Amino acid sequence: MKPRLIFISIVLPLILAFEPVLSSASEAGPAGISGVCSSGGVVVSASSEATEAGVRILNDGGTAMDAAVAVGFALAVAYPRAGNLGGGGFMLIREADGEENFIDFREKAPLASSRDMYLDQNGDVIEGLSTRGYKASGVPGTVAGLSLAHRGFCRIRWESLLAPAINLAENGFALNKETAKSINRLLTEYGEDFPGLRKFHAGSGDKAKEGNRLCQPELAATLRRLSEKGGREFYRGETARLIVDEMKRGGGLITLEDLKSYSAEIRKPVEGAYRGYRIISAPPPSSGGTVLLEILNILEGYPLSGYGPLSEEAVHLMVEAERIAYRDRARYLGDADYVEVPVTELISKSYGSRMREAINPDSAGSSEMKNHWKENSETTHYSVIDRFGNAVSATITLNGSYGSKVVVRGAGFLMNNEMDDFSMKPGVPNMYGLVGGRANEIAPGKRMLSSMAPTIVIRDGRVFMVLGSPGGSTIITSVAQVIINILDFGMEPGDAVSWPRFHHQYLPDLIYHEDGAFTDRLEKQLKNRGHKIKARPPIGDIQLIIRQGGTACGYTDPRLYGSAAAGGSS
Ligand code: DON
Repeated sequence: MKPRLIFISIVLPLILAFEPVLSSASEAGPAGISGVCSSGGVVVSASSEATEAGVRILNDGGTAMDAAVAVGFALAVAYPRAGNLGGGGFMLIREADGEENFIDFREKAPLASSRDMYLDQNGDVIEGLSTRGYKASGVPGTVAGLSLAHRGFCRIRWESLLAPAINLAENGFALNKETAKSINRLLTEYGEDFPGLRKFHAGSGDKAKEGNRLCQPELAATLRRLSEKGGREFYRGETARLIVDEMKRGGGLITLEDLKSYSAEIRKPVEGAYRGYRIISAPPPSSGGTVLLEILNILEGYPLSGYGPLSEEAVHLMVEAERIAYRDRARYLGDADYVEVPVTELISKSYGSRMREAINPDSAGSSEMKNHWKENSETTHYSVIDRFGNAVSATITLNGSYGSKVVVRGAGFLMNNEMDDFSMKPGVPNMYGLVGGRANEIAPGKRMLSSMAPTIVIRDGRVFMVLGSPGGSTIITSVAQVIINILDFGMEPGDAVSWPRFHHQYLPDLIYHEDGAFTDRLEKQLKNRGHKIKARPPIGDIQLIIRQGGTACGYTDPRLYGSAAAGGSS
């Protein structure tokens, strides 16, 4: 178990009190976590049960892709706030022979959706309609994505990859403290309005407690159907019927036609270079890879390592790069199957250098509009490396914590509230304070823009780092900052993951920093440059694997309760 609160509230401020010592180097720093290392493969995820499921597959001779499918299904059971069957995600695969593919199983807007569906007669956004309840859901993609991964990239039988998830759902798993707490919060806030959530009652008392076993018999039955009949069952069989019935009961938009016409897609990852390393990451419909590469391209022209982590100069420049890249996200990014997205231009080195010219080295740039941020979010990332040289970086989500809160009765899983990731109205922020325009407006069958950024860093033609994070809009800055911590600041991986984070997303025009991350002195320096600053709860939850020689080491972010484990001989 990892002491997130102790770390952020006690350890971090103490360490940062010694800022002058830290400013030039990374030997000191937040008590870095240690890695779990092995030459037999490594799995890192937000749930120890899911990690264990993946390791078992690796030990049975499976590849990283086999393990990734098993981890995906296990997360749907053991990490219910974000793991899912009723949501979507992305999986980036780099095979040992250098082949690179990106599986897009992002949800799609239902065929009955329309551009202004969340606006009232006055053209104002109806509060809550895109975030809670039946109309908030896109057509789920996870089962199609995992089954496409299986068909295209796996060697172990489908049934064997679902077996650990079925076992966890049928026989239950012991709640950890954090999941028990989040279930209690969920039931208190939404239990009355969404009676299907009662499936999360665990144990005999009113409140879920650490150690209570959560069994999910309906979910187990659904997983069994999928295991016996294949992923198509979800879109055409009994499960599809249960989804459609549930939608009809509550006034949702998803029909059988939506489910039958859903398909996951194999795309090419976006790719770029940073300080001699190759980076591959998520293409549209995610903004993740594009914004990440844009930030890194801009920063490549500055001597960040000379400035040092959390130095006034480095923070200023990183914030300005983030401001520009998130501005472009708002302007240009959307589902490239529907709109033209200028990815090649945005991730080019020449664009990065033009953007550098627009940055004032001494004072904050401007973001024109005001904005706000509502938070109640959860996504989850996992990384896998096997002993054969394959690597998988996957991020999956329901969007908000426990998605739309609608449980499909008889099927035992939650639906997503991913429709909120569309731009409801130009300039009106979504749950993450993100704005967008035409490129990300709603259209039937279109995929909503994402920030998820499953990423792989390659050195000399071999996988060097596999990483990603949840955190809505902060996903991209979390991934960028861990890469920078390692490649620019030379931090040990455990320090790089633990290191305090900050975030700017163009709008609102604020630097968010993890509470306690900025010293008073740094805050004053940045304010003098014209920055506005706000503390907020922890940013991101990185799951990192780093490989050196034949050994891979996994690191799970101390901000949450994930787990890294090794396969084979460790
Ligand atoms: O796709 C996206 O960008 C969001 N739906 C991700 C949500 C998320 O990361 C919430 N996590 N804390």
